[in-house]
Amino acid sequence: ADALRVGIAGLGTVGASLVRIIQTRANELAVTCGRPIEIAAVTARDRTRDRGIDISAVTWFDSAEELAANAEIDVFVELMGGAEGAAADSVRAALRRGLHVVTANKALLAASGVELARIAEENGALLNFEAAVAGGIPVIKALRESLTGNTISRVYGIMNGTCNYILTRMEKEGLSFADCLKEAQRLGYAEADPAFDIEGNDTAHKLAILTTLAFGTQIAPDEIYLEGITNISIDDIHAAADLGYRIKLLGVAQRTETGIEQRVHPTMVPRDSVIAQVDGVTNAVAIESDILGELLMVGPGAGGNATASSVLGDIADIAKSRPGAQQVPVLGIPAASLTPYKRAQ
Ligand code: NDP
Ligand code: HSE
Repeated sequence: ADALRVGIAGLGTVGASLVRIIQTRANELAVTCGRPIEIAAVTARDRTRDRGIDISAVTWFDSAEELAANAEIDVFVELMGGAEGAAADSVRAALRRGLHVVTANKALLAASGVELARIAEENGALLNFEAAVAGGIPVIKALRESLTGNTISRVYGIMNGTCNYILTRMEKEGLSFADCLKEAQRLGYAEADPAFDIEGNDTAHKLAILTTLAFGTQIAPDEIYLEGITNISIDDIHAAADLGYRIKLLGVAQRTETGIEQRVHPTMVPRDSVIAQVDGVTNAVAIESDILGELLMVGPGAGGNATASSVLGDIADIAKSRPGAQQVPVLGIPAASLTPYKRAQ
């Protein structure tokens, strides 16, 4: 069968891991997907940087926009980040060409997800974004596919690996906030601007996406009550522990009688609860629904391999898809069927 030709924009923590995995598992992937996965084009900012990967045989484009517009590819993979600029422009251009898109960019989806879904639907393109929420945990697939037919009442959890890593190491090893953040950056967990992690915006972006998938409403990141972890001290953590609690940064979205409630803030959770046991870069997402009941998914929430695993799963889904077959709507239901967002009173 013809290879699936992939173009990758962004060769940082996630992009370089993805290249490495596709190259080292080429034979297995060809069998699993029924066709080879070929990295046909790449771009990043600095062509000369040593990334620990061999891309000497891959066509290099000088910009993401150029790659999205000109590369002979089937799938455009956006791993640059940012709600605007190169990421947004290139994803729009790729979808308008009818190219399938895979992205890990929650900031972009929170800002423009409905518009991008509409462009994808108009052009017969798939837009997959499993890695955008909770890294390696298949929560998008759960909401978009597995829970079809369920009425969802609540989605909540730990959705930022950097914050959970910081809170865990502060509590267990007495390290300072600043040192933990530096280590999270070194390990490739943090956003390019780590303020997005520690001030809660990254969790808010992810929560806004989950809210739309869970409740079928427009994406509404600005409706989220937002408080990050920058004011949490070791004393706070110890005081909570004395009372039998641990502090976690949670994102919570729930349906109420008057509308949807969305909030992100540090929360005291009982020490014996499952969510309190979730440590380090691990994330946890709970989904409460009427047919299934409570689903709790726990797993690696950030880092090159965990994230690339989800990106690869999205690429594999595209490789296995058949032209003309019924596709899963980008946001669970067609973009035109999303209802207006109504905030709980
Ligand atoms: P990095 O900062 O490590 O890598 C970003 C890459 O994009 C770099 O290769 C950079 O080029 C390239 N890039 C940035 N701007 C441009 C531009 N204007 N034109 C071309 N290339 C550009 O980020 P990550 O790999 O950590 O994250 C990538 C995406 O994945 C982001 O959307 C992030 O939010 C998301 N994500 C990250 C996770 C993680 O654990 N790291 C987990 C889940 C999602 P150069 O290398 O030359 O500077
Ligand atoms: N910076 C993010 C985090 C990456 O720490 O969770 C995964 O989305």
